Amino acid sequence: MNLTVNGVTHEVESPLLTPLLDVLREELGITGPKAGCHQGGCGACTVLVDGEPVVSCIQLARQVQHREVTTVEGLARGGELDDLQAAFVRNGAAQCGFCTPGMVVAAEGLLLRNPSAGEPDVREALAGNLCRCTGYNKIVDAVLEVGAARGGGS
Ligand code: FES
Ligand code: FES
Repeated sequence: MNLTVNGVTHEVESPLLTPLLDVLREELGITGPKAGCHQGGCGACTVLVDGEPVVSCIQLARQVQHREVTTVEGLARGGELDDLQAAFVRNGAAQCGFCTPGMVVAAEGLLLRNPSAGEPDVREALAGNLCRCTGYNKIVDAVLEVGAARGGGS
């Protein structure tokens, strides 16, 4: 099967029923999406599929053939952090960093569909992404800051 990840199409050899997360990490070496619970419950493995956040540990890779998969690596531009990644750094929204790739990707998905997202929207959109370090407030601040800067206001 073919998978398009971060704008590059790969010929993938993993068995048909392999979860997308495993194809990304183990076959393609794209390790931004993290393997946390492997049961759809922590959000660490979140990627975008055609702009929508998806937990890749319970998504079969073959189901996203012919669609555009974006991981946290694909958000950076020319080796520079994108505005959301930079806001996480600036706001101290990443500590151990394990949840961060999934958080950033889930937040990007929210801002793509609702640039005007307010705090309740952000908290709801990130409710499936668990963080044991930050207490969430700095993450929410970072997302709201970027939404406002992109013209959505908050
Ligand atoms: S590793 Fe996928 S949701 Fe936890
Ligand atoms: S920064 Fe450690 S789990 Fe979120």
